Amino acid sequence: MFRKVAQLPLDYDLFKGKNSIFNWSPAGSVIFGNGSVARTGQEIKRLGGQKVVICTDEGLVKFGVVQKVTDSLEEAGVEYIVFDKCEANPSVETVEAVVELAKNVDMLIGVGGGSSIDPAKAAAILITNGGNIRDYEGCDVFKEPPLPVIAIPTAAGTGAETTPFAVITDVQKQWKMAIGGSYNIASLAICDPELTASLPPMFTAATGMDALTHAIEGYVSRALDPISEPILEQAIKLIAGALRRATFKGEYDKDSRYDMMLGSTLAGMGFTNTILGIAHSMAHPLGAMFHVPHGVGNAICLPVVMQFNMSANPEKTAAIAKLFGKDVSNMDLMEAAQVGVNCVFQLLEDLPIPPLSNWGVKESDIDKLAEEAMKGGDRWTNPRETTIDDFKALYVKCLKLKK
Ligand SMILES: [Fe+2]
Repeated sequence: MFRKVAQLPLDYDLFKGKNSIFNWSPAGSVIFGNGSVARTGQEIKRLGGQKVVICTDEGLVKFGVVQKVTDSLEEAGVEYIVFDKCEANPSVETVEAVVELAKNVDMLIGVGGGSSIDPAKAAAILITNGGNIRDYEGCDVFKEPPLPVIAIPTAAGTGAETTPFAVITDVQKQWKMAIGGSYNIASLAICDPELTASLPPMFTAATGMDALTHAIEGYVSRALDPISEPILEQAIKLIAGALRRATFKGEYDKDSRYDMMLGSTLAGMGFTNTILGIAHSMAHPLGAMFHVPHGVGNAICLPVVMQFNMSANPEKTAAIAKLFGKDVSNMDLMEAAQVGVNCVFQLLEDLPIPPLSNWGVKESDIDKLAEEAMKGGDRWTNPRETTIDDFKALYVKCLKLKK
């Protein structure tokens, strides 16, 4: 029932050319396709589950998404408890509330984005390891396999359904903890693009830009390996082709929802192995200190960071232009790379992503934000070395965007 990831790349060999050894870890099982959520109950039975806790939020209950899951559970005779208090940037307290409910169940289901799947993963760790979730920050700190988790994403963005991480916010310290671990991966992801059909435009745009950030940061990462490379290329291509359509006509353009979900799932599988870059280092403190939604923070930071990184990896940035469908065949490398960066600036311009000032972020906050961004692990795989002054300058540029 457990799917152990062989080893996370942070403490293992990164790909450094054909004379090096690298490792690549797959996700848990994935069931993908329109209508696949109806299989949830039978899959849980197949895995030996009898009683589950569903982690989700009130909106997904209200709009009938959770009912699609519970209908399937009832049909299969699986008992369930619904916890509908998951919030954006899920907190230590939310994880503890899930643990209280889940003491006598044999599986957890996360229905939603990372805000529902991550607390399910974190609670699954605490149930078998005890202690406080703060004890397990880092990589492979917990020892016992968690309870199995089934991840059912309802947005195409986070990738939490395929990654061995849970990001939990310590509200007191205004700090987002990454809990990574060989066992911290959903045993099964059920990816049903139809569940995303009625997401509103701003939410689709923000979560989709999170997925694009995963794909692009993974693709230009210093840890890119030859297995992740084609996966991330495909992810960028799918998201670049579908995100505007999914945002503005996603209720009836089913193909755009399908491509976004597939792109997001592929991006998750890729960045599990490549890690990310400094757009994520910058988005995390924006979320922890100002409650900027993760996708919004990434959407605004991504093009600014790509411009900063371009000189350190122009080949891949130029390749991004091609994946966006641009003909750069008559350009020199740096010109083509600039087209790649411009494609993402244009995407941000076109999408309904609000500016950082909407969350009260001001220039006077930048020193503290930069200090926090320096603490994140994603900086180590970013193509260009980043100092605290770099982070300050990047935040200044991000604040000026979308005014
Ligand atoms: Fe992300």
